[in-house]
Amino acid sequence: MDKFVINGGKKLNGSVNVSGAKNATLALLPASLLANGISEFRNTPKLNDVFTMLKLLKQLGAGYTFENGIVTLDTTLVDNFTAPYEHVKKMRASVYVLGPLLARYGEARVSLPGGCAWGPRPVNLHLEGLKRLGAEINLEDGYIIAKSKRLNGGKINFDIPSVGATGNIMMAACLAKGETIINNAAMEPEITNLARYLISMGAKIEGLNSSILHIQGVDFLNPANIDTIPDRIEAGTLLIAGAITKGKVNLTNVDIRHMYSLCEKLEATGVKLSYNSNSVTIDATDSELNSVDVITGPFPGYPTDMQAQWIVYMSVCNGTATITDTIYRDRFTHVPELTRLGADITVKDNSAIVKGTNKLRGAKVMSTDLRASASLVLGGLAAEGTTEVLRIYHLDRGYEGLESKLGQLGASIERVAGSEY
Ligand code: UD1
Repeated sequence: MDKFVINGGKKLNGSVNVSGAKNATLALLPASLLANGISEFRNTPKLNDVFTMLKLLKQLGAGYTFENGIVTLDTTLVDNFTAPYEHVKKMRASVYVLGPLLARYGEARVSLPGGCAWGPRPVNLHLEGLKRLGAEINLEDGYIIAKSKRLNGGKINFDIPSVGATGNIMMAACLAKGETIINNAAMEPEITNLARYLISMGAKIEGLNSSILHIQGVDFLNPANIDTIPDRIEAGTLLIAGAITKGKVNLTNVDIRHMYSLCEKLEATGVKLSYNSNSVTIDATDSELNSVDVITGPFPGYPTDMQAQWIVYMSVCNGTATITDTIYRDRFTHVPELTRLGADITVKDNSAIVKGTNKLRGAKVMSTDLRASASLVLGGLAAEGTTEVLRIYHLDRGYEGLESKLGQLGASIERVAGSEY
C-alpha cells in the first residue's frame, strides 16, 4: 500500500489545473447504458473509482477506450444486467447502473451497497422511487432484483434530496412512458451535468438547477458526447491547501458557480479570493486566519465532502469553530488522526468543535476514507516536520495526481510504494 511522505511548513505558490469531477463521471458513464452505440465523455479524470465503473460496465458487455481524458463507451453488446458485490462493495456509486439497466432492458440485479466507514448509507430512496415508476423490486441474497415491463412515469417526493436517488430515478424516467415529476430533487452540479447529457441523448427534462424536475419519457435515446464539469471538491481542497499554508494558489478549469458556499466561508476566514470566468486565485500570504463555523447541507449549501478539509483548516485558525455535518452525522473518522498531528478537536453528536492551535506537528497518520485522507494531506502540508499519510489508496479513488499538483505548487510530497499498514 502506498503512502505519502510530506515535509510540511512550505507556503504553496503557483497555478494548477483542476480535473473533471469524479461524482459527475460516475453518473455520466452508466447513463450511456440508456442508448445503443458509442458515447464520448471528455474531461474524464483518471481515478480508481472511474476505472471501477469502467470495469463494471465492461462486465455488463460494454466496450471502452480511455485516452487523453476521453472515455469512449460502446454499449452495443451489453447483455449482462448484474452488478456484483465485488464491484459495489468497492464503490457505492455502482448502484447508478440500476436505473438505466431497468429502464432499457427491463431487469437489473445489483448488489446492495451496505454501510461505509461512517455509518449506514441506505438506498431506500432509489428503490422507492423506482417502485413509483412501476418496477417490481425484491431483495434476495444481498441483491436488489429489479424487474419491469416498460416503466411508467410517476410523481416522486424525496424526503431527503439524495444525489444518487435523483440521478438513478432521472435516468430511469427518461425511458418511462409518460411524465415523471421528482420533487425535492438534488440540485448538485453533477446532477445538472447528468441532466444535460441525457438531454443531448434526446431526453426531455425541465427544471435543471431546481428542486423540481419534470421528465417526459421518450421511446428511445441516442448516444451522445458530453464535457464533464470541473471537480468542485478537488478545487476546494486545493484552495484550502493554499489557505492552510498561507500561500497563493491559482486554479484553472473551475466553475465558481459551483463553489459559492465554500468561497464565502474562505473569505470570512480572512483570505483574499479573486475570480475569472474559469479560474480562481486564493491569496493567504498576508492573512490573519480566523475561525468560521460551517454547517454542511445539500447544494447550494456547504458540501459534506469538504467537511474534513474545513476541520483541519480550522485547526490552524485563530479561535474556535463548530463544524456540523447534517448529511453524514458520523463522518468524523479523520478526527482522531488529525489529533495525532496536534489538532484540538472534540466531537459531540454530529458536530466537531475545533480550537485553533499555533502549530500542527508531523506524525504518522492513517487514511480512513477519501475526504478524510485529503484532510490528512492538508494537515501534513501545514505541519512542522514530516507527516506520513498511510493507506492513500483511499485518496487515489478521487484525486487525480494530487501529489504532482501539490508538488507543482511547491509542496514537498512524495509517494512511497510499500507494504506498511
Ligand atoms: C453523493 C456523492 C458523495 C456525497 C453525497 C452527499 C457521488 C458518487 N457521491 O453520494 O460524494 O458525499 O452525495 O453530497 O456522487 N439517503 C437515504 N436514502 C437513500 C439515499 C440517501 O437516506 O436512498 C441519505 C444518506 O444517508 C445521506 C443523504 O441521504 O444522509 C444524502 O445522500 P446522497 O445524496 O444519496 O449521497 P450519495 O448519492 O450516496
